[in-house]
Amino acid sequence: MEIIIASSPAETATIAADFVCRVLARQERPVLGLATGGTPFLTYRELISRYERGEVSFHTARAFLLDDYVDLDTDHPERFREVISRDFTSHVDFPEGVVYSLDGSRSRPEEVAAAYEEAIVAAGGIDLQLLGLGRNGHIGFNEPSSSFASRTRLILLAETTRRDNARFFDYDLESVPRLAMTQGIGTILDARHLVLIANGRAKAAPVAATIEGPLTAMVPASALQLHPRVTVLLDKAAASGLQHTDYYQQAHAATA
Ligand code: GLP
Repeated sequence: MEIIIASSPAETATIAADFVCRVLARQERPVLGLATGGTPFLTYRELISRYERGEVSFHTARAFLLDDYVDLDTDHPERFREVISRDFTSHVDFPEGVVYSLDGSRSRPEEVAAAYEEAIVAAGGIDLQLLGLGRNGHIGFNEPSSSFASRTRLILLAETTRRDNARFFDYDLESVPRLAMTQGIGTILDARHLVLIANGRAKAAPVAATIEGPLTAMVPASALQLHPRVTVLLDKAAASGLQHTDYYQQAHAATA
């Protein structure tokens, strides 16, 4: 893993945006994997600024969301399809209809999941997948006990996840959905480059378990250890539980 300890969340966003811009510049038809949650917000803001300055364009790109809630009204503001549009995609020049999301309102989750997997393959696979990290070590909505070989599917949200996300629902736990659709860990591992961003002390323990802990289904993000190209972008607080920070910093300086 390439582990980069940045001076601030803003710097993690700048570095993540650099990776996205590089993919956009290099690939003829770039495919981005987009995450929601609070963490990538700064990265999206940075990308919007670069787009507004004419430094980057998304007109040849397509994007796939990682996950979404099930059983929220179609136009609910916390549907991730709405969130990504509000926070990012509607502010830049993605063509119409190329930002794919998991439709959590349909009654047949297996069909939705299979169609999503097929759409990713048909797009040529995901070039760069942005990831946040749950406090319980989840990626996407792959909760602890998710198989490392899991594919896109319906999942029951963990109580910790629902509590963490209650802030987006006026702190009313009852209105946080219980079910979600998520790309599986196997699906995520198929992307060509994974960029995990984590900021803040609350992420220190899951970050340490992800990077330095054993491979275990109880820390879904530990599956990233199996991927050949992973970049982990951390602010100092999120890196504070790591044992080998000196080595990571030297390794990054020596190989950057
Ligand atoms: C959410 C999302 C994840 C996200 C994680 C962390 O529930 N499903 O994709 O990475 O939890 O969220 P945050 O960035 O707000 O800490």
